[in-house]
Amino acid sequence: MTLPVLVDCDTGIDDAIALTYLAGHPDVRIAGVVSSAGNVEVAAVHRNNLVLAELLGIDAPVSRGAAAPLTADLMTADDTHGPQGLGHAHLPEPTTSGDPREGAQLWVETARAHPGELVGLVLGPHTNLALALELDPELPRLLRRLHIMGGAINHRGNTGPTSEWNIAVDPEAAQQVLAAFTGAPQRPVLGSLEATETVRFTSATLSRLQGTADRTGHPVATILVDALRWYFEFHQADGFGWMAHVHDPLVAAHAVTGGFARTRPLAVDVELTGMLTRGQTVGDELGRWGRAPNVDVLTDVRPEEFIDHLLQMLQDALSGGNRSL
Ligand code: BDR
Ligand code: CA
Repeated sequence: MTLPVLVDCDTGIDDAIALTYLAGHPDVRIAGVVSSAGNVEVAAVHRNNLVLAELLGIDAPVSRGAAAPLTADLMTADDTHGPQGLGHAHLPEPTTSGDPREGAQLWVETARAHPGELVGLVLGPHTNLALALELDPELPRLLRRLHIMGGAINHRGNTGPTSEWNIAVDPEAAQQVLAAFTGAPQRPVLGSLEATETVRFTSATLSRLQGTADRTGHPVATILVDALRWYFEFHQADGFGWMAHVHDPLVAAHAVTGGFARTRPLAVDVELTGMLTRGQTVGDELGRWGRAPNVDVLTDVRPEEFIDHLLQMLQDALSGGNRSL
């Protein structure tokens, strides 16, 4: 039995690594990919997703999502992910334009096609899922579980001083998603910065991935190495040294395996109106709100074990044949 997974992402360097991981995972069937505006504009994200889907042999609809957040102006992170979203990588043109359905519609139809089975994985802003919840408020009861990369709990932000990128781009959407899933049969799992920033790629990690590129000759391996060099340069410019925080694959791997971290229940909400803190994810550690926990937050990550697993899975995923467009 494989696990059907719908991935909503703003590819994005670490999104691309997560997609490659999922495409190669023997227990996963990617049931749909929704392109989200975020790291770059939605047209560039969609192109990246289409090309990766073709090169990785992902046999699933790839749908273009909304071009802008629910109410905020779109901000993009070309400095972090490069002008096209994949750093220094050069991608071929996709040979298809993808699925004609809106991203929100694909969420709904895929969940309806797999009642109680579909894992939803949000690796970018929450715009498409918020729109999907407007179309079908039953979604929280239709999904097996929702897994989110987003937020920073008791941790500095990476976008504003207290806000994390995926929440900061569309705080209203993130707030609406958390509200809609409150009381769902399974609490969403939130992988926020204090967990995902433990996954630090170093020059040794990059060398191992370069080894995979040399051994397999797979174009996606080269894309990932060239993309990651940009990510390292960005982190170095931000004062972190020659390394990169690689967020999305940990959340994907935990969604699929349940491993590499533990979870703890917490009541979390999104700040929408703070003068300095818009987009902050606020966790009510002492229960002051009197609300039941609405998410399970990733904690106690085992980063070395995870990075070993990830690199092995990427090696396996990219050894299975050198696809071209
Ligand atoms: C998140 O923001 C994006 O830039 C990354 O792809 C990741 O999903 C980390 O804050
Ligand atoms: Ca992302």
